[in-house]
Amino acid sequence: MAASIFSKTQFTILSILLTLTLVFALGAAEDGFVRAMDRKLLGLKKQKFSHFQFYWHDIYSGKNPSALPIIQPPKNSSKNGFGVVSMIDDPLTEGPELSSKLLGKAQGFYGLASQTEAALIMAMNFHIMQGKYNGSTLTILGRNNVFNKVREMPVIGGSGLFRFASGYAHASTHKFNPSNGDAVVEVIFPAFDLCDDKDWLLSEISRRGGWARSWTSLAEDGFVRAMDRKLLGLKKQKFSHFRFFFHDIYSGKNPSALSIIQPPKNSSKIGFGVVSMIDDPLTEGPELSSKLLGKAQGFYGLASQTEAALIVAMNFHIMQGKYNGSTLTILGRNNVFNKVREMPVIGGSGLFRFASGYAHASTHKFNPSNGDAVVEYNVYVLHY
Ligand SMILES: *[C@@H]1O[C@H](CO)[C@@H](O)[C@H](O)[C@H]1NC(C)=O
Ligand SMILES: *[C@@H]1O[C@H](CO)[C@@H](O)[C@H](O)[C@H]1NC(C)=O
Ligand SMILES: *[C@@H]1O[C@H](CO)[C@@H](O)[C@H](O)[C@H]1NC(C)=O
Ligand SMILES: *[C@@H]1O[C@H](CO)[C@@H](O)[C@H](O)[C@H]1NC(C)=O
Repeated sequence: MAASIFSKTQFTILSILLTLTLVFALGAAEDGFVRAMDRKLLGLKKQKFSHFQFYWHDIYSGKNPSALPIIQPPKNSSKNGFGVVSMIDDPLTEGPELSSKLLGKAQGFYGLASQTEAALIMAMNFHIMQGKYNGSTLTILGRNNVFNKVREMPVIGGSGLFRFASGYAHASTHKFNPSNGDAVVEVIFPAFDLCDDKDWLLSEISRRGGWARSWTSLAEDGFVRAMDRKLLGLKKQKFSHFRFFFHDIYSGKNPSALSIIQPPKNSSKIGFGVVSMIDDPLTEGPELSSKLLGKAQGFYGLASQTEAALIVAMNFHIMQGKYNGSTLTILGRNNVFNKVREMPVIGGSGLFRFASGYAHASTHKFNPSNGDAVVEYNVYVLHY
């Protein structure tokens, strides 16, 4: 009885809200397709902080591989497999054995984006298949130097219960078979999400004095638990400006950029569909000989049939000073003949955890005969 009255009241409120929304929509649409919204209408509850743990199986061998090389650049142009790309549909399990409970799938691709290290650019969705998160996804885009003990990659978004998610994943190899490339990787990650409150879990965790010991007793569904965000130790958010020169080199004996996909000539207008892998030096000054500050590793593809507009996905791997080893992740549109192009910074690792911001790229020098370019980057980042 009480429940039905309650739901009737809720329904009335909802109707009023919907009516207001419609009136508002008609009255206030800017540009016809966009309008301001009250974020309360999204129904977002208190932001939560959760910790997930599972094992990721990357299987190349046997009759049922979960990983498939989809791009093999010409051997003579590729050092150490630079430019090789694999598509994955990797099982995520509760324990290190493939036979243990299936929690989800890691679906996406990774490519070798370094000419000197086993550093991948990885883009994948963790599709969760168990418990209350069943059907929700978390999206990862970051740098993974596979022979490092612990690799950190940003969680850049999500769907379902993970809408507006941000966070980071820690991957550490549990088992690796160099003869066939099969790997089992333990993935642990704290990620913010915005679903139901679990304050009791948080208080329980703090009562027990830390999260490491409380894992087993508090884990929901075995692979996820709420966490107190204070345990992250995030300090005050800072705003930084980084400036460097990006060298995209196709010519000579040591190119830093390699075309890895060339669509059939008859199907491609002005190179639409061409994709390059890059391991581009980032230097302090416009000369390649100036101080090396890091590498831009990732790829870009021509995604317009009318303009030189690229989709760019890359990690800025910083190699100097206190940011040495930290990465910033960029995913955006770059219309290369515009004076200034702006691309979003969508995340980061290390000192750039939870980074957001934007990069301004402006061409310093371009050689149309071989495609070599020097581009000035000014990157504005909010980070902790
Ligand atoms: C690779 O080999 C092919 C065929 O021999 C040749 O056409 C091409 O120019 C070579 N590429 C490089 C980068 O050496
Ligand atoms: C997860 O959701 C799918 C699709 O709704 C459903 O078929 C499946 O049984 C669910 N799995 C579990 C373990 O709840
Ligand atoms: C391109 O040419 C190839 C070989 O002539 C042909 O098989 C293919 O259908 C063509 N593709 C398009 C999109 O016209
Ligand atoms: C950056 O870190 C790497 C790995 O820890 C180290 O080998 C290198 O010497 C460091 N470089 C600088 C300039 O501090």
